[in-house]
Amino acid sequence: MSKVIIIDYGSQVTQLIARRVREAGVYSEIHPCVATAAQIAALKPDAVILSGGPASVGEKDAPALDMGLLELGVPVLGICYGMQLLAHNLGGELAQSETREYGPALLEFTAESPLWKGLESSEGAGKRGTSRVWMSHGDKVKTPPPGFCVTARTATLDVAAMQDEKRRIYALQFHPEVSHSVDGETMLRNFLFGVAKITPDWSMSSFVERVINQTRETVGDGHVICALSGGVDSTVVAVLLHKAIGHRLHCIFVDNGLLRQNEGEEVVNYLREHFDLNLTYSQSADLFLERLNGVEDPEKKRKIIGHTFIEVFDREAQAIKAEGVRVDFLAQGTLYPDVIESVSYKGPSAVIKSHHNVGGLPEKMNMKLIEPLRELFKDEVRKVGAELGIPDSILWRHPFPGPGLAIRVVGEITRERLDILRKADVIVQEELKSSGWYRKVWQGFAVLLPLKTVGVMGDGRTYEHVIALRIVDSVDAMTADWTRLPADITARISGRIINEVKGVNRVVYDVSSKPPSTIEWE
Ligand code: XMP
Repeated sequence: MSKVIIIDYGSQVTQLIARRVREAGVYSEIHPCVATAAQIAALKPDAVILSGGPASVGEKDAPALDMGLLELGVPVLGICYGMQLLAHNLGGELAQSETREYGPALLEFTAESPLWKGLESSEGAGKRGTSRVWMSHGDKVKTPPPGFCVTARTATLDVAAMQDEKRRIYALQFHPEVSHSVDGETMLRNFLFGVAKITPDWSMSSFVERVINQTRETVGDGHVICALSGGVDSTVVAVLLHKAIGHRLHCIFVDNGLLRQNEGEEVVNYLREHFDLNLTYSQSADLFLERLNGVEDPEKKRKIIGHTFIEVFDREAQAIKAEGVRVDFLAQGTLYPDVIESVSYKGPSAVIKSHHNVGGLPEKMNMKLIEPLRELFKDEVRKVGAELGIPDSILWRHPFPGPGLAIRVVGEITRERLDILRKADVIVQEELKSSGWYRKVWQGFAVLLPLKTVGVMGDGRTYEHVIALRIVDSVDAMTADWTRLPADITARISGRIINEVKGVNRVVYDVSSKPPSTIEWE
């Protein structure tokens, strides 16, 4: 399989480079800039891309270029900081800009380049020989290194792009990976296919085939246990592994009493109807609710739910083992952003976050981890799911927190309060879906507040619960903004909740962004 390695110097948009390359049908991996050229060589890349980054070349602790990367015999593309590193290390001259240049700029092609192929007459390129790009940099290249020619400039930059065709080294001061660079995708494709002559062979069907083969090899004749949560990732993991090892996959679904209406049933029914899957459905709502009785503190709720989950899961796993099954592996739905999230340009001191979706389980149960989705971005997981035939109603589910509705019933959790919330939440889901907004927003849900307010219904005074609507836009849940949902949809949701959910007489809309608020209320 063809492979592009992206060296991460700490840019906020490094992940976007990886995504653009993958969208072009080429597998890409991000590695921290502290990886040595020998380590990168061992990966046998077909091309290397040096990312941007917040540092200034030459300043104390600024990440350096491992010159061995230029000796791998494959083309190299430097972007922003990557370009400055190339210029500095190959004998060019850098200068500090008086001001940081941030935002759009008009690129003017000054020399032919394989990267500009097809752009001379492209609409995106605007008038002949120009292209709108997005800049974000402090330093700039004043003089290119010997052997390099300048291929583009802007009104404020004499060297906006440069290349050494002989050594197949290319450099761009702007960010082709962001969508504001209108021809960025073409430039990256030109690098991949025109310069590096890569064959695009990364597709979700080839991924499925490869992972199935790899899983069979890794697992041998062993058995795997998988915690099914009802979400996209664990469902895709279960179906994928089932295809690989059939009955040697054992799925455990724990109903903790904190799920949305029909949440568990839909996935469990789907898996039971379509696959002859080994599936344990552990109905443990009583145990969870008993332990949560009287608990109001959100962190305490999370801890109790986490510990109880591990206990229940462990018990179910022991039951499977008691049947004489030797379980060696625990499957998890870890995704690529979880793996690379905290890779920092600051180097080895930055610990790579290891997400244990079912925290503490692998250690406790003495099992090896198997993470078949750890190479994928979320949108790729959905594509794999579609490839496997999983319906959209499961693949496009909004994220749902592990502690479930416990952190959306603000304050004390009782069956009655959970019931009220569940009924209100169904209405939110239904209205978002029927209005076409479900797929446009990141998450949309109801929250039950720990207070009652006065209302009037018919001739009588009421004193009942308040539901808050939390509907947000986001790309990764790190930041979020409240969705400007059309007023008529908000009105319909509110009207239905107040009329249909007994015990609620008021609905409010949460208009806070993250930060400073969070998406969940607890
Ligand atoms: P916050 O509330 O931190 O949420 O802005 C960000 C995203 O994470 C989800 N979330 C959780 N997921 N366990 C989870 O598995 C949790 O304890 C938890 N808390 C929040 C939340 O739904 C949102 O998508």
